[in-house]
Amino acid sequence: MMSRDEVRVGIIGFGVVGCGVYRVLAGNGEAITQRVGMPVRVARVADIDWEREREVDVPAKLRTADAAEVYAAEDIDIVVETVGGIEPALGFVLGAIEHGKSVVTSNKELMAKRGAEILGAAAARGVDVEFEGAVGGTIPIIRALKESLEANEIQEVTGILNGTTNYILTRMAEEGSSFDQVLADAQRLGYAEADPTDDVEGIDAKYKIAILAAIAFGRRVNVDEIHNEGISRIAPTDIDYATEMGYAIKLLATARRDGDELDVRVHPALVPIDHPLAQVGGVFNAVWVVGDACDQVMLYGRGAGALPTGSAVAGDVLDCARNIIAGTRGRVPCTCEGAAAIKPIDEVAARTYVRMRVKDRPGVLGSIATILGQEGVSIESVVQRGSMDELAEIVWIMHEGEERNLRSALGAIGQLGIVDEVCSVIRVVE
Ligand code: HSE
Repeated sequence: MMSRDEVRVGIIGFGVVGCGVYRVLAGNGEAITQRVGMPVRVARVADIDWEREREVDVPAKLRTADAAEVYAAEDIDIVVETVGGIEPALGFVLGAIEHGKSVVTSNKELMAKRGAEILGAAAARGVDVEFEGAVGGTIPIIRALKESLEANEIQEVTGILNGTTNYILTRMAEEGSSFDQVLADAQRLGYAEADPTDDVEGIDAKYKIAILAAIAFGRRVNVDEIHNEGISRIAPTDIDYATEMGYAIKLLATARRDGDELDVRVHPALVPIDHPLAQVGGVFNAVWVVGDACDQVMLYGRGAGALPTGSAVAGDVLDCARNIIAGTRGRVPCTCEGAAAIKPIDEVAARTYVRMRVKDRPGVLGSIATILGQEGVSIESVVQRGSMDELAEIVWIMHEGEERNLRSALGAIGQLGIVDEVCSVIRVVE
């Protein structure tokens, strides 16, 4: 083996995360050199737009607009992909692997949708692909599942994996404001994207839980089979009722083993206020893991941002650098065996909160309760709150039962002509 005196890193995509990685590697360079045993130096940065203002000033000689000058360059050892999305990022990652580079990516969509192909190519070429920054920003959950908790049979992984929605729900709870009001404010403050769909509809969290489920349960997960619901229909009234009943409303991404199937889904849920996940506020993320030996573990931290995500990506870079120095690349390969069978959402059993507005007249509650009973939905509690314009608001908590029964009951109840609106259906976590 040729002797070396440094490990050279190339970054493709110099947006928020790319800049964060650069700042961490350059800013902590001395300590990193001492820990890894030699300098880990950013030797080239590719981006198509060098006019944009950034917090870091990269020397002109390191800049290029051509990604191939990073992923195909002879003098680059590790390629960091922080472009995001599928194409052209996939081409850059596969190109880097083909050229024998180790790859570090923070791209959740890419790893969720094309992770098997990427990890397969890396195994065939004998290089590392690491992706800690793809889930939970700075939180070291991927390394925890792949290494520290590896000896467990994992039973459940549930996370608050999207900071934008957690910020919105936290402010709605604190201020009693509507979703639309807080979203507009979050966009103004830069906490939400101009097009917030991926965040608020649970798509971002779906990519992340697909990645965690695959690692925790050793099966490839098809993201298209994961049920996702967002938070745009949550009303301040729901948060008030939840608070009164001792719950917080959170957007949860969850994966658990259910017989031979995996139950993987993303949706808002009422979480008991004394559950650690209920305490996670603002833009923070957290991941709750239950294993047969470790029992309950929760990791908490910033789910986004230049330096927090840069920290996770830079940690992967150092791990790859150590492997390169030791000549042991490909040490932590993909551990999935085949594809997971995902439990259809209709068959998932859940306890449920239902809020509806109904005509306020004799026999209405009885008629609804009769249909619920006929459809096999068991009522745990029901309260009627006030009456307005001849309408009453009723909040039900249903005992745990299959979702299809509740859907079918709500369909039949809708035909009675006594329900003005089923306003909210939210699952309740024990
Ligand atoms: N958009 C994500 C969030 C951060 O709001 O948590 C990047 O994954």
